[in-house]
Amino acid sequence: MRSKNVLERARDEGLALTYDDVRLRTGFAEVMPEDVDIGSNFSRNVGLKIPIVGAAMDTVTEYRLAIELAKLGGMGVIHRSLSPSEQASNVSKVKHHLNGLIEKPIYILESETVSEVLSRRESKGYSFHSYPVLGSEGNLVGIVTRNDFEFCDNDSSSIGDIMSTELVTSPENTSLSMAYDIMRMGKKKILPLVNGGGEIVGMYVYSDVKRIKTRSAEKYNLDEGGQLQVAAAVGVGEEAIERVELLTEKKVDVIVIDTAHGDTKSVVDTLLEIKRNYSNLDVVVGNVSVGESAKRLADAGADGIKVGQGPGTICTTRMIAGIGRPQVSAIYDCAKSLEGYEIPICADGGLRYSGDIPIAIAAGAHSVMMGSMLAGTDEAPGEMVFFQGRQWKRYRGMGSLSAMEESSASRERYSQEGNGKNQMIPEGIEGLVSYKGRLEDVVFQYVGGLKRGMGYVGTNSIKELREKGDFDRITTAGFSESHPHDIKITGDSPNYRGEER
Ligand code: XMP
Repeated sequence: MRSKNVLERARDEGLALTYDDVRLRTGFAEVMPEDVDIGSNFSRNVGLKIPIVGAAMDTVTEYRLAIELAKLGGMGVIHRSLSPSEQASNVSKVKHHLNGLIEKPIYILESETVSEVLSRRESKGYSFHSYPVLGSEGNLVGIVTRNDFEFCDNDSSSIGDIMSTELVTSPENTSLSMAYDIMRMGKKKILPLVNGGGEIVGMYVYSDVKRIKTRSAEKYNLDEGGQLQVAAAVGVGEEAIERVELLTEKKVDVIVIDTAHGDTKSVVDTLLEIKRNYSNLDVVVGNVSVGESAKRLADAGADGIKVGQGPGTICTTRMIAGIGRPQVSAIYDCAKSLEGYEIPICADGGLRYSGDIPIAIAAGAHSVMMGSMLAGTDEAPGEMVFFQGRQWKRYRGMGSLSAMEESSASRERYSQEGNGKNQMIPEGIEGLVSYKGRLEDVVFQYVGGLKRGMGYVGTNSIKELREKGDFDRITTAGFSESHPHDIKITGDSPNYRGEER
């Protein structure tokens, strides 16, 4: 990576800069923003179609967000405050999502009336209208679809009266591709899988299967077997090794050794142990903020380095412990130290606007990890909260008091395993972030901002942005000029929220 004047000089002076201290310089562009390639890598062997990774936090990444993010081309890191078996089951849900197979289809009974089924549909909030129908012996006897309900003008009819009995079924181990072909040939919207005893053991729905078959290749972040990619966080020592064993059984793509201080003997020992037992498994290690630390972890066999000590929205580490380094300089120092290693850097924390993504990459990152920018979406864990007339979702640091009280993994992340309830030294806070709606819409804006940034700089790819992107340092006057100013904002914008500044 070429030296960046502003960051290089700052480094020589022992001055560390962060996102709001710099802006990217524009350059001659031969490519339109919509045509730039934003594919990258999270780790040595695991790619990303968009360079966005979901933080390993209990208010950010569980299976729902990981599935959606991988479908958008990124990847989630399942947090480790879950028990080892819950975490492994989260990974499994992501890996199996694209099978399109409904393992336990909701069925109805031949003897029920149409009105009973419709009121159950209403009370349970089912969004679908197709059901397999079971007879009195529990075996599959028919199918009802939306048409059967629509053409039924007597709600007291029995399901047996309206169901279709011309069934196309398939055996238990039918693959997604086989199901797609069978359904297309027979023009069937649902395909029940039936075992030797006539019992239903699974079901494919054509609309799902078609979506997977036709859209996946272009956008989804998939492994070689066509399944969504997912990472999972572990700590150090024996529990980490036990987690890795369970996680690899579920075919996790990347292990992230997730600690507040990655440059420690226990992290290096855990890394060596994992690599000794699973030489083909990519292990990303963090967090660090100093080039020498990144190099030490790379020399120990890390397949990716996570950079960020204290930049996060909910972090208080820098205030509590007095350590840490403003994030753009941290990324740059680590990237310079890793020149020649071909080990990707993930810039973790501190991003607030889409414009921070191209800045992180031009400073040397291959991907960015987001907490608060993804918290508050529908797919993030937790319910919506109504407060002061607005919708919010909870977001908390893994080193916050409540997170550490609830989870031994959080205590371990901050080296406080042995501390009793009143002896905790929190390094994070908890709070609310604005409810943001669907992850897809939010990520659309982030990706759009990144691509626009690349267009302005005149770079075609993430590699080129790392290479060519260069900075001006700005003053507080420049910073105020960068934000909207001298106006009372009256309209909402999907990618700029003034009050969060
Ligand atoms: P953002 O800014 O995206 O940051 O919300 C997410 C990242 O912050 C780290 N993290 C913490 N750091 N105390 C800290 O000092 C904490 O309690 C804490 N919880 C999370 C983590 O690296 C995450 O990805």
